[in-house]
Amino acid sequence: MAYTTKIDLPPLVREQLVRLLQQRLNDAIDLAAQLKHAHWNVKGPQFFQLHQVFDSVHDEVEGAVDGLAKRIAALGGVADGRLKTAVKGSSLAEYPMAAKGGAAHLDAVSAGLSRFGEGLRQDIDVACHLGDAGTSHLFAQLSRESDQLLWLIEAHLCDIGCTEARS
Ligand SMILES: [Fe+2]
Repeated sequence: MAYTTKIDLPPLVREQLVRLLQQRLNDAIDLAAQLKHAHWNVKGPQFFQLHQVFDSVHDEVEGAVDGLAKRIAALGGVADGRLKTAVKGSSLAEYPMAAKGGAAHLDAVSAGLSRFGEGLRQDIDVACHLGDAGTSHLFAQLSRESDQLLWLIEAHLCDIGCTEARS
């Protein structure tokens, strides 16, 4: 571990937790940048609404970046916030440069949020098995928030023309 701490979790466990947290931090930094890209570049009749929605989702994701980084620090690790680290380590797909209209940006943003949420959901159990309910709960909280953001984005997609669910 990078730093000694009196926290009652063994260094080997903390190392594994920090690795998990860093993976999600990489994703979150990438996702935040993707949201700014969408915020700046979206075009079309829904421009203003989407411009604002992408910025508000960006701000929420920045909150996740901060929460993940601070948990790494609390565990005695180094929160690697370098963009080059995030680029190398992110599990998100490359944001499509061809995206122009609202539907394309909503689709790309929802793909990023979905992948981020998927990783967080897997990490909940892994952190729990490592014996750290605190980190596990952080993953659970961020996963719930990420699901809410995905709902917010997908609700806009439906407005543009989704397939109605049939009962
Ligand atoms: Fe802005």
